[in-house]
Amino acid sequence: MTDAVRAAWADLAALDKPTLKALFAAGDRLAAYSHELELPGGKIRFDWSKTHLDAPHVAVFERLAAATGFAERRAAMFAGDHINVTENRAVEHTAQRGVGREASVEEAEALHLRMKGLVEAIHQGALGEVKHLIHIGIGGSALGPALAVDALTRDGALVDVHVVSNIDGLALEAACRACDPATTMVAVASKTFTTTETMINAASALDWLRTGGVTDPYGRVVALTAYPDKAVEWGVDETRVLPFSESVGGRYSLWSSIGFPIALAVGWDDFSEFLDGAAAMDRHFEDADPADNLPLRAAFADLYYTHLRGCQTRAVFAYDERLRLFPSYLQQLEMESNGKSVMLDGKPVTGPTAPITWGGVGTDAQHAVFQLLHQGTNLVPVDFIAAIIPGDSLSPDHHRNLLANCFAQGAALMAGREAKDLARAYPGDRPSATMLCEDINPATLGALIAFHEHRTFANGVMLQINSFDQFGVELGKEIAKSIVAGDAKFDPSTEALLAAAGIK
Ligand code: F6P
Repeated sequence: MTDAVRAAWADLAALDKPTLKALFAAGDRLAAYSHELELPGGKIRFDWSKTHLDAPHVAVFERLAAATGFAERRAAMFAGDHINVTENRAVEHTAQRGVGREASVEEAEALHLRMKGLVEAIHQGALGEVKHLIHIGIGGSALGPALAVDALTRDGALVDVHVVSNIDGLALEAACRACDPATTMVAVASKTFTTTETMINAASALDWLRTGGVTDPYGRVVALTAYPDKAVEWGVDETRVLPFSESVGGRYSLWSSIGFPIALAVGWDDFSEFLDGAAAMDRHFEDADPADNLPLRAAFADLYYTHLRGCQTRAVFAYDERLRLFPSYLQQLEMESNGKSVMLDGKPVTGPTAPITWGGVGTDAQHAVFQLLHQGTNLVPVDFIAAIIPGDSLSPDHHRNLLANCFAQGAALMAGREAKDLARAYPGDRPSATMLCEDINPATLGALIAFHEHRTFANGVMLQINSFDQFGVELGKEIAKSIVAGDAKFDPSTEALLAAAGIK
């Protein structure tokens, strides 16, 4: 850690921390902390006025960003440099949206064209009648597609998509029950094409097709992977293997061929709009100065709460059913990217890294977990996400009440309320940020996801960690493999559990 970085953290720690009430009394918070971004799918308003960010903190966070090489690392990512140093890889998910190193953008466009060909051939019936797709993948190969398909097909889908991730056979059985083998295709989505859960689920899906009367089950499979040779070796015909570049990380891969189920469900035009929305956010993140850069500003708020207020979690509530899977998607993005203990120079970190991301959907969460947010002993910064245009066509009462509740929660968390009876008092001064979208459509969703990708990256830069590896997931996988192989001895507790379950 350089002296400049150390000094910035020390200065941040020494600054006064005024209450939200004091901050609002001191000046026009909206002018400084509420921003509207014009995007292809409509505006998104980002409001951080109910967070404790103030001019002195922002000034030092900007110094921290400069001292940690934010502008240089951002440029290096877009240039396709190998910023994923532990795996010696470039980080090029933005090239999938047309932003980044020219050669990578061209490669992504060519692969998208191939994917478009297959999607349109299926829509036109060239592969027979296809009513359902069982998309098998896990982690980044499932969470993004599941979110986008769920969000964008509320008015119906061109093909009915079921995302199956869990190794628990109940997941695949449920999908199979909802589909007819005669009109179902299976997508096997795995960057590595080695992930145990995916390969076991894929084999069982083939069995299901076979027993359902499909004579050539492999003929119904599409493979989505960065290792096309492995998919061909496994049995998928080359014409139905949709590759993507190794420089696209798993949790950033929904823009690549891993997005095949999205394109199949919503059609190619909508999928293109999804990419365009993300590209607009890329350009904002790449071009905007630190003072106006919205993902960077969000990262300042994140670091404020983890480092200066000791917050161990952050919560995200989507006040829109279409975004109900957004919190689970974000969990992988943020926790797998920044849940690290080692800095870029290989030394242990000296402060907290990613908080625990959790959340849910409003208004449901209000009746379950908001008690703790209002009166619990943990300070939890909250993000609210909502849309002005309703997704439903019922009485306007639904949407009016939905938005009223969303804004009421932010106001209540901040204002609190005094009461003689402490059990009925609300301490207030609890932070929240609101992202208010004009609409939820493919382009807005793309922009929202890209915003969070860049926010996560900006956090990682200022934390001086590598946001793009995930070695922490390996040990458990290795142990599970040796348990299944029956070739290792474990601690007495694990041995007893294995014996009780009849696994050993
Ligand atoms: O185990 C974690 C992980 O490697 C994630 O990073 C990834 O998204 C997921 O597994 C699935 O990997 P794959 O796409 O290679 O099957």
